[in-house]
Amino acid sequence: MKNTPTKWIVITGCSTGLGLSLVKAMREVGWGVVATARKKESLDNLPEGEDLFKIDLDVLSDDSVHLAVKQCQHLRIVGLINNAGYGQVGPLEYLTTQELKNQMETNVIGLHRVTNYFLPLIQRNARPGEGRIVHIASMLGRITIPLAGAYTASKYAVVSLGEALRMELAPNIKVILVEPGAIRTEFRSTATKSWGDLPQRVIGTRFEPILERLLSYGKAADKHWSQDPGQSATKIARAINLLSPPRRILIGPDAHIILLFSKLIPTSLFEFLARRIYGLTR
Ligand SMILES: NC(=O)c1ccc[n+]([C@@H]2O[C@H](COP(=O)([O-])OP(=O)(O)OC[C@H]3O[C@@H](n4cnc5c(N)ncnc54)[C@H](OP(=O)(O)O)[C@@H]3O)[C@@H](O)[C@H]2O)c1
Repeated sequence: MKNTPTKWIVITGCSTGLGLSLVKAMREVGWGVVATARKKESLDNLPEGEDLFKIDLDVLSDDSVHLAVKQCQHLRIVGLINNAGYGQVGPLEYLTTQELKNQMETNVIGLHRVTNYFLPLIQRNARPGEGRIVHIASMLGRITIPLAGAYTASKYAVVSLGEALRMELAPNIKVILVEPGAIRTEFRSTATKSWGDLPQRVIGTRFEPILERLLSYGKAADKHWSQDPGQSATKIARAINLLSPPRRILIGPDAHIILLFSKLIPTSLFEFLARRIYGLTR
């Protein structure tokens, strides 16, 4: 039986994928975890323990986040992982302003909301250098690809918010940006759901076959080079636990190779290759 932990971290979006794996990984490195999800029932399968506290939290709602903070007052919260998010895909000319707003509301405004509500608690509890705020960004917060403009815009914003916050909170609280490539989670199936009627909207346009191509890329990524969420979470948890954590954590060979490649080649060539891969040069 584990002892009650002396430091706790809040994680958003723990129902599936990376968030779920992060709960396990952070517990393994000795932290207590406040696992949060829009529906607390989705956390029922997590093994109970002195080091786990489960609560509802919807990043879109002030009331929900406010209540979550109130429920955590008895814990020594010194960290937060902003993990909740989804990918809105689709060519920009067929994307509605509402779809773009929804993407920003969850991935950017939601992340800012949760950070600002929990920050006073972290500042109150953490010793100098002990506090941790982790934003799960993406390699697509550093490079842009076609058909994912809404998502990449949201992740560029996350990177920028994280870098500004890091300078504002240093040296007491360390802000870490996680920049994964593809990870095998529910991400791609949720992205397909968030398409809504997009496939109908593009029928008869040049994007009809391109969207099908995008789907097959997602499947190929999951099969061939996606990272295991458990291993990704372990890497993140170990880095968070270091006395001097890195500013950025890249996850997966695709993130390392594509980010390096994008710096070495001219933008014109990068854009040509991206257009070609997505069938936009035909
Ligand atoms: N998988 C990848 O290839 C990849 C690559 C780079 C970055 N990322 C990032 O990694 C993070 C985790 O994604 P994942 O891959 O683990 O995908 P996932 O399996 O789809 O998990 C996403 C999580 O976010 C939660 N969420 C969505 N909207 C929310 C809201 N309004 N309030 C609270 N929770 C909400 C979902 O909860 P519900 O179950 O309630 O919907 C779910 O728990 C995301 O920020 C994503 O952008 C993923």
